[in-house]
Amino acid sequence: MTSDTARDPHGAARSTGPGRLPALATVVDALACPVCGLPVELDADAAALTCHGGHGFDIAKQGYVSLLRGGGNATTGDNAEMVAARDALLERGHYARIADAVADAVETAKPQGLVVDLAGGTGYYLERVLRSHPRLRGIDVDLSKFAARRAARRGAPVALPQPQTLADNQTQTAVGAQLSTLDPAPTLAAVVADVWQPLPLQTGVAAAILSIFGPRNRPEILRVLQPGGRLVVVTPTARHLRELIGPLGMIGVDDRKQERLAAQLDGFVDLSSTSVEYETSMSHADVVNDVLMGPSAHHVDADRLAARVAELPDPVAVTVSVTVTTAFAPREPSADQG
Ligand SMILES: C[S@@+](CC[C@H](N)C(=O)[O-])C[C@H]1O[C@@H](n2cnc3c(N)ncnc32)[C@H](O)[C@@H]1O
Ligand SMILES: [Zn+2]
Repeated sequence: MTSDTARDPHGAARSTGPGRLPALATVVDALACPVCGLPVELDADAAALTCHGGHGFDIAKQGYVSLLRGGGNATTGDNAEMVAARDALLERGHYARIADAVADAVETAKPQGLVVDLAGGTGYYLERVLRSHPRLRGIDVDLSKFAARRAARRGAPVALPQPQTLADNQTQTAVGAQLSTLDPAPTLAAVVADVWQPLPLQTGVAAAILSIFGPRNRPEILRVLQPGGRLVVVTPTARHLRELIGPLGMIGVDDRKQERLAAQLDGFVDLSSTSVEYETSMSHADVVNDVLMGPSAHHVDADRLAARVAELPDPVAVTVSVTVTTAFAPREPSADQG
C-alpha cells in the first residue's frame, strides 16, 4: 500500500468535502476485483472498495483507487514530471480539436452508459467526451498514479446520500445509481490499473472505450465492451509534430503503426476513420512540454533540449496530425447462428 492510499479517519471525504463522495462511487457497479474478478462495493465510510471475496482496496485521498493486481509493481506508467508536462500542454488547447473529434466519434445511440478511457492519462479527453455527452459516466484507467490523481480531480464529487439511505442496507450499486442523478457531469472516476493485465472491469459493461496514444490490449477491450459497443482509437500519423521531430531528436511515428492497428482491430466490425490535421502555434514552453510528456522524455538531456528549442522560431508552427478510428465489437450472435 502506498502513502497515497493510506486511510485516515475521514476517508475519501478529505478530498471531496463533508457530505461528498468521489465520482468513483458512481461507477462501482462496473468494477471488478483485480485479484478474484468478483464485483466490488463501496465501504460504508466510502474510504475503500471491498470485493465479495473479501479483498480490499483503499481509496486515495485524491479520490482514485488502485486496482493493480498484487499492489504496486515495477511498472509505473508515466512519472510525475511527464504527467505535469502533459497536463500543462493539454490545458493550452493545442490538442482540443482531437478531443472534439473523439467526442464526435463517441456519439452513441444510448444516452446513458459507461465510457472507459484506457491509458487515459490525466483524463483530458475523457472529460471532453463527458461534457459533450453529460449522461455518460466515465472511468479513466491508467498505470500512473500521478495521472490518476489529476484525472480524479476532474470528476464532480457526488452528494452523500441521506444517512438513512445507507442504513436501509441498500446495495452500494443502487446508491451509486442514485448519486449519479444528483450531480451534473463530468461523472469521471479514476482507476490505477495495467492495461496489459485483465482489466478490473466487469465483462460487457462499456458502451464505449477510448484508446488515445496508448497501449491496446485487444482481448480485454473486446471482453469489456458491450456487444455492439464502440472503440475509438487515436493514433498519430507520420506528419504529427513533424516540425519538432527532426530538430529536437524526438522519437517519430514508426511506419508500421497503421499496420499494427489493423491487426489489433481484427474481430471488430464497421471500421471507419477520420483524419484530423491542423497547424497550431506553440511557444517554446509548449514545445518543451510536448517533448517531456512523451517517450522522448527518456532520451533527451535537458540542457541539449533547451539549446535545440532555443533555435526554433518562437512561437513555432507545429502540425498536429492524427487518425481517429472507430470500430465496433460484434453484436451477440443472432438466434439462427446458434
Ligand atoms: C502517451 S500517454 C497518453 C495519455 C492520454 N491518453 C492522452 O493522450 O493524454 C500514455 C499513457 O499510458 C499510460 N500507460 C503506460 N503503460 C500503461 C499500462 N500498461 N497500463 C495502463 N496505462 C499505461 C501512461 O501512464 C500514460 O498516461
Ligand atoms: Zn476479490
